[in-house]
Amino acid sequence: MCGITGYIGQQEVVPVLLGALEKLEYRGYDSAGIAVLDNGELLVRKAKGRLAVLAERLVGERIGGTLGIGHTRWATHGEPSDINSHPHTDVSGRIAVVHNGIIENYARLKEWLQARDVVFRSDTDTEVIVHLINYYYRSPPEPGVAPGGILAAVLAALKRLEGSYALAVVAGDFPDRLIAARKDSPLIVGLGKGENLIASDVPALLSYTREVYFLKDRELAVLYRDHVDLFTDQGERIHRAPSHVDWDVESAEKGGFAHFMLKEIHEQAKALADTLRPRLTDPTGAAGGAMDITFDEIKLDPSWATAPRVVMTACGTAWHAAMVGKYAFEHFARIPVEVDIASEYRYRNPVLQPQDMFIVISQSGETADTLAAMRLAKQGGMRILAITNVVGSTLSREADLVLYTWAGPEIAVASTKAFTTQLMCIYLLALKLGRLRSHLSDEEYRRYLAALTCIPTQVEGVLGKKDLIQRFASRQFNKNKVFFMGRQFDYAVSLESALKLKEISYTHSEAFAAGELKHGPIALVDENTLVVAIATQETLFDKIASNIREVTARGAASLVITWEGEGAFASIADEVFTIPKTEDSLSPLLSIIPAQLFAYYCAVQRGNDPDKPRNLAKSVTVE
Ligand code: F6R
Repeated sequence: MCGITGYIGQQEVVPVLLGALEKLEYRGYDSAGIAVLDNGELLVRKAKGRLAVLAERLVGERIGGTLGIGHTRWATHGEPSDINSHPHTDVSGRIAVVHNGIIENYARLKEWLQARDVVFRSDTDTEVIVHLINYYYRSPPEPGVAPGGILAAVLAALKRLEGSYALAVVAGDFPDRLIAARKDSPLIVGLGKGENLIASDVPALLSYTREVYFLKDRELAVLYRDHVDLFTDQGERIHRAPSHVDWDVESAEKGGFAHFMLKEIHEQAKALADTLRPRLTDPTGAAGGAMDITFDEIKLDPSWATAPRVVMTACGTAWHAAMVGKYAFEHFARIPVEVDIASEYRYRNPVLQPQDMFIVISQSGETADTLAAMRLAKQGGMRILAITNVVGSTLSREADLVLYTWAGPEIAVASTKAFTTQLMCIYLLALKLGRLRSHLSDEEYRRYLAALTCIPTQVEGVLGKKDLIQRFASRQFNKNKVFFMGRQFDYAVSLESALKLKEISYTHSEAFAAGELKHGPIALVDENTLVVAIATQETLFDKIASNIREVTARGAASLVITWEGEGAFASIADEVFTIPKTEDSLSPLLSIIPAQLFAYYCAVQRGNDPDKPRNLAKSVTVE
């Protein structure tokens, strides 16, 4: 996730761009940059670090101009640096582009352009876009066809892109226009008087206008000072009336959601698609190939596939992702897995075996205990694979291999989209290793991959029923004990569900492996207890049904989270919340969503601010 903006009008553009970027900084803050057309000259200024670093650099520079674009970055391809910051320019320095999204086929496009003598300066996926535009601007796609100007060049370049983009283009030869386009990343056009703007999000536009076009996928806008033209990505004109925005600035910053946490829960479908899609070859079968997993960013050398053991370590939510990983690696790849909390691992004199695979998981990549555990394993000669959300984080720099979760910045303290995207990375690794180790047949492998491709839509389906969870929370939020229970994958999800609830609602909540109930926890169950059973492992339905009877017989209220169409629990639980059917072993990607929503709505009912839970910090960088 990054923030992009652009302006064409009468005002001096630099302060306009910096003001808009400030409003977009929550979308990314590892670097920022602007490109401005000043007296026919395209000036680009960019800097690693927060927007303030760029603003500081611009102090004392006299940059005029009334047309420009800006970007605030959350690195995906290429670590945070001046050179990887946007805008990116073509070889002549006459065209500049800012981009939010992921170009999935950038490696192939880069090779194609390099074969045409294009020299790349950055490690970003975005740079291919500006070189493609320049290529089509200088040399029309069909021999004998006259150049069609900058719009035709952008249209031709877009045809080559796979993945997601919201982008803005300015060109020195066209000082009267700014071109913007979107697919699968947000982009809004603001309509002013004698001025027009674009931004990734509404708050950046509100000081100028409330009349907007919410660009739809595969639409382009050409902004002039006095009007805006809309097109399809086939170049056909679109006519529609603008929308009026009446949000206040604060709710606009949260995309209309009451809290960042709720917004991030809703972003999971997209975040999961972003994490999955670039790693699948031919997901639709359109290229006639068989679907497979490729990790462009890491080379899994053959010794990883023969590693005798996987060791996983992390803290908090990321540790729960590792718990899911234990079941996933054992199930798909038949590798023994050891999972440990990083603060335990670092002090317990673990047995370090260099041939093992060490996986470390951290949203921030800066958690002190997680880094210490990783360094210990490294000293012991183990090879480190990190799963993290932050490009350029300490973890990403020190690990041997890095698999990124493309979740975008997570603002709310309680982790949601980072967790599900961590799960996605784990599943991809476990499935790939399962295939390499020949524990999965071709048919099984493809079946699981096909199931993964359905997950983002299924997440939307779960979110579509959030009112049911909200109503349930409004009846149960006052319970003073909430226990989550499940078996196997469902136990791992129970751990995460209990953590979510306790950290934002301050309700005493715990998770139990359901089979452990009789060994102690059931002594706590009474009429003031809510028990949430997660039941997605079909072979264990009878067992979990008995556990539910045991707690309801002692007066507990009960909720079961299970598959759509599953009737086994209707007569024994107070409430059943169903999720769309996927493979039992992939269920955590879906079953955690109602639990996240439940925690959120309980916190709100209790009058807490879910985004800023008491005593907690987003990143625990000290012991
Ligand atoms: C819970 C939560 C924390 C973090 C933990 C590790 O919602 O956010 O438990 O998961 O502090 O943080 P990272 O993943 O940044 O290492």
